[in-house]
Amino acid sequence: MSVKESIDKRWSPRAFSEKAIPKETLKEILIDAGKAPSSRNEQPWSFIVGIKGEASYDKTVKALNEFNLKWAAKAPVIILTFAKKTFARNGNPNRHALHDVGAFVAYLSLRAMEEDIYVHQMGGILPEEVHAEFDIPEDYELVTAIAMGYLGDKNDLPEDLRDSEKPESPRMGLNEFVYAEEWGKAF
Ligand SMILES: Cc1cc2nc3c(=O)[nH]c(=O)nc-3n(C[C@H](O)[C@H](O)[C@H](O)COP(=O)(O)O)c2cc1C
Repeated sequence: MSVKESIDKRWSPRAFSEKAIPKETLKEILIDAGKAPSSRNEQPWSFIVGIKGEASYDKTVKALNEFNLKWAAKAPVIILTFAKKTFARNGNPNRHALHDVGAFVAYLSLRAMEEDIYVHQMGGILPEEVHAEFDIPEDYELVTAIAMGYLGDKNDLPEDLRDSEKPESPRMGLNEFVYAEEWGKAF
């Protein structure tokens, strides 16, 4: 599968099938996502993986807010993503840490497509619950939770979520966000 094919195939479903993701496959995807670039190659990302059926899952699910809990708790894998806010080398603030975690997850989302595994990122999370559940070092910030799994049936979703279960969401036109010469002047 080409990168272009992965990009075109990817979207963020809420209906996941119950089929488990083999641990080896998940590991391969995580290893490849870790090849993403990062500022000074700091790789300021850490993750907690929850696998459905294991004790880890119930703990990661506690990170989800009420809305996300309605659908995401069916996914076979929930991952919590963290950014290390300072550089390991000198303790200075790393203002690109969130950016780099985003790059990792973008790689993850596209690499997962090759395995037919879909990723749905969530900002609707409860940092306090996560800190209560896990002993997170002070220097780390919870960024997102992500649900991963194979596509499911949208009719298994709560009724109010079925209509928005679509592979294509609208995107801005280039002239709305790519400029030349001056801010706001279309490229
Ligand atoms: C950082 C981030 C946070 C998001 N938070 C949520 C969320 O809390 N709940 C949800 O259902 N979707 C969430 N989404 C999914 C977006 O709504 C989705 O990516 C966007 O509508 C574009 O759709 P697509 O991914 O299918 O192309 C989030 C996506 C990102 C990247």
